[in-house]
Amino acid sequence: MCRFKNVSIKNLTKIFTSDKKIVTAVDNVSLEIKPGEFICLLGPSGCGKTTTLRMLAGFEMPTSGNIFVGDEDIASLTPDKRNTAMVFQNYALFPHLNVYDNISYGLKIQKRPKEEIKSRVEKILEIMKMEDFAYRMPAQMSGGQQQRVSLARALIMNSEILLFDEPLSNLDAKLRIHMRDEIRKLQQEIGITSIYVTHDQAEAMALSDKIVIMKDGKIIQVGSPIEIYQNPNSAFIAKFIGRANIVKGKIIEIMENIKKVEIFGSIYNIESEKIVEVGDQVEVVIRPESILFNKDVHKGKVIKSIFMGEAHEYEVEMNNEVIEISLHSPRGKKVEKINDYLSFAFDSSAMHII
Ligand SMILES: Nc1ncnc2c1ncn2[C@@H]1O[C@H](COP(=O)(O)OP(=O)(O)OP(=O)(O)O)[C@@H](O)[C@H]1O
Ligand SMILES: [Mg+2]
Repeated sequence: MCRFKNVSIKNLTKIFTSDKKIVTAVDNVSLEIKPGEFICLLGPSGCGKTTTLRMLAGFEMPTSGNIFVGDEDIASLTPDKRNTAMVFQNYALFPHLNVYDNISYGLKIQKRPKEEIKSRVEKILEIMKMEDFAYRMPAQMSGGQQQRVSLARALIMNSEILLFDEPLSNLDAKLRIHMRDEIRKLQQEIGITSIYVTHDQAEAMALSDKIVIMKDGKIIQVGSPIEIYQNPNSAFIAKFIGRANIVKGKIIEIMENIKKVEIFGSIYNIESEKIVEVGDQVEVVIRPESILFNKDVHKGKVIKSIFMGEAHEYEVEMNNEVIEISLHSPRGKKVEKINDYLSFAFDSSAMHII
């Protein structure tokens, strides 16, 4: 039987009062997390991600609401009474303890037998490929190595839930990607339910089974990376997850799930479940990579033309609007320069009505 349980967050709210100012950091958040799921809380600075995580860990008491792990409401338990482990942005290692003692600290507090501690630490050092570092002090290690130790320290507790608060944001870009992939691999091997806070959308896409997008203390969309990227439910999310052109359109005809939409004078058949009426003005999301070249439908003046290796990035101006266009695998294709005119069409199969 799986030792991990459903986590059910119900109407969680946290109101801070400081300097006579009242801040609703988390506003009536509800979320269901399945055993073994990897969830990312993603959103701009100040949207309540850390506060939500700290309530899960027990470092912050909710103003109202419940956190069920299985059938038990843990919302009012102190951190040591919860079966959660947290990995912090700044590693939070004990500077005066070596790697071995840092990792074994929690087990010592639990008064586990010495032999058990030794074998568990050795096993986790092996998993993390840190066997050679057991007697190093934190100050003698790089950021990436320290973060590995902090991950090992969380994993060794065999907790039910792993919590991460931007654990990779102090690392350089390459190492961040490496560690991100390592975290995902480990998490899948162990099958541990994980909740990960980030404001890096690429990280959220790479790690998550489900992305939870937050804004102003509220959840505004939940879905798999594919769902959120392809069907964002607002212009804010479309622009927050990846790059997006948001163009205005007018509904011309409705044929069940196919809507005929006029955009820049051309008609597109867009698949959409959205309830609209003929004549409605709508916003349509079109990703820069979903634009077709050499189609004589629209013509725009090139105002940006940058070769990025895997893609050539353009911006074109048309009817006083700027459209971002990304030409992937540009090798051997004609390069348009600034002030050239570029002909293109939108790929209707990749368009999404908000
Ligand atoms: N102890 C506190 N006292 C007062 N206000 C707080 C406290 N902690 C957080 N806040 C406020 O609550 C809101 C949410 O903060 P939180 O740290 O959860 O945001 P975040 O999404 O983690 O942001 P970031 O991406 O910058 O880390 C912010 O407006 C913040 O100023
Ligand atoms: Mg935060």
